[in-house]
Amino acid sequence: MEAKYQMKHGLLTNTGIEHELIVFKDHLHDVIEGDQKTIVKKAKRLEKELSGIIDRAERYTEKLELLMEFSSILNSSLDTSRVRELAMKSTCNLLDCEGATLYLVDKEKQELYFETIVGSVSSDQLKEIRLKIDEGSIAGTVALNRRPMLINHIGQEKRHNKQVDKKSSFTTKNMVCVPLEAKGMLIGVLQAVNRFEGEFLEQDLRLLETLGHQVAIAVDNALLYQNVKNQFYETVFAMATAIEAKDRYTGGHTKRVALFSELIAKHMDLSKEEVEEVRLSAILHDIGKIGIDDKVLKKEAPLDKEEWEHMKQHPDMGYKILSHVKSMKKITDGMRFHHERPDGNGYPLGLKGNEIPLIAMIISVADTFDAMTSNRPYRKGLDYDVAYKEIVNNAGTQFDKKVVDGFIKAFKIERMGKKRSKT
Ligand SMILES: [Fe+2]
Repeated sequence: MEAKYQMKHGLLTNTGIEHELIVFKDHLHDVIEGDQKTIVKKAKRLEKELSGIIDRAERYTEKLELLMEFSSILNSSLDTSRVRELAMKSTCNLLDCEGATLYLVDKEKQELYFETIVGSVSSDQLKEIRLKIDEGSIAGTVALNRRPMLINHIGQEKRHNKQVDKKSSFTTKNMVCVPLEAKGMLIGVLQAVNRFEGEFLEQDLRLLETLGHQVAIAVDNALLYQNVKNQFYETVFAMATAIEAKDRYTGGHTKRVALFSELIAKHMDLSKEEVEEVRLSAILHDIGKIGIDDKVLKKEAPLDKEEWEHMKQHPDMGYKILSHVKSMKKITDGMRFHHERPDGNGYPLGLKGNEIPLIAMIISVADTFDAMTSNRPYRKGLDYDVAYKEIVNNAGTQFDKKVVDGFIKAFKIERMGKKRSKT
């Protein structure tokens, strides 16, 4: 609450309202001087002046409320693309402008690159443009000096990069540009372009600076989270690949099953988080094979009954390895039950229908599709279309119907077979 008050109070002080009130107070003293007619005239003028001040103060208060709302929304997400999109939308709403641009710093090359563009600007071609951190462009200058800039007559500004307007078929008229810093490091530049009405004012710059502080923190947090997540995935993937290496005939299986599972999940109306869980579980689905005897795993012929019973223990073995990690419950469900079947003929528990977690059913289809289409020493892999039909024909018995619907869409739209060869 105190921080909110300080934020509001500090910004109100900077908006010029306080100065206007001081001037108004002086005018108030003058009003009592002169004859009655003059006093009435002065009073009417003052009434108008006061009403203007109140109007502007109300508008600023609305902006501050918006700013605080955006700040809390921005800090509630760790999804990098969501944070960037929110930052741009907040900029447009807060500054009543046509477009907003977020540049991030490429530390290695010491350049700025377009990360997100919102508004009526075409973004695809702009993504190719890179700006040096020097005085050759407005954003570059802001990044170099770490000072904001307000430019209302862009035609007179030599540093304006005309390439940007040309590539986007957009005409920049005015802009406010602020540096984004987190923990003393420059992470980017935030730009508001073309105010809908009139020119940008000093208070717009103050608002964007304040929003910029929040955006910088949110973007920095999201990037850190993304890095940690990437490292986690790389570690998990390295672990899964190391186990896969025990079986030289299934090279690339983990990668393909992870990709197929992700593609199916994306066509099943699942949330982004759920799709990620599916992908992670798919990467880990066979780690239980670490406990399978090498003689069985590397056998170049079909397994006998005893060997098969041993092999069937791998889902439970994988589950045991990770079951103590409570936050991975859904992930371990996918690993443990990816050989179950809706008709109850699967393993290890012989679960039926809805008893089987959806995540496991997705991996089951992806795993089977890859197994059918991969070559083995004792048989050649099936053609993708043949494997596709096999999966569709077994919907409701070996595979979950909803998952098969997702698989059909993924196969047709994403061309899963084609993507397979790229992995
Ligand atoms: Fe498996």
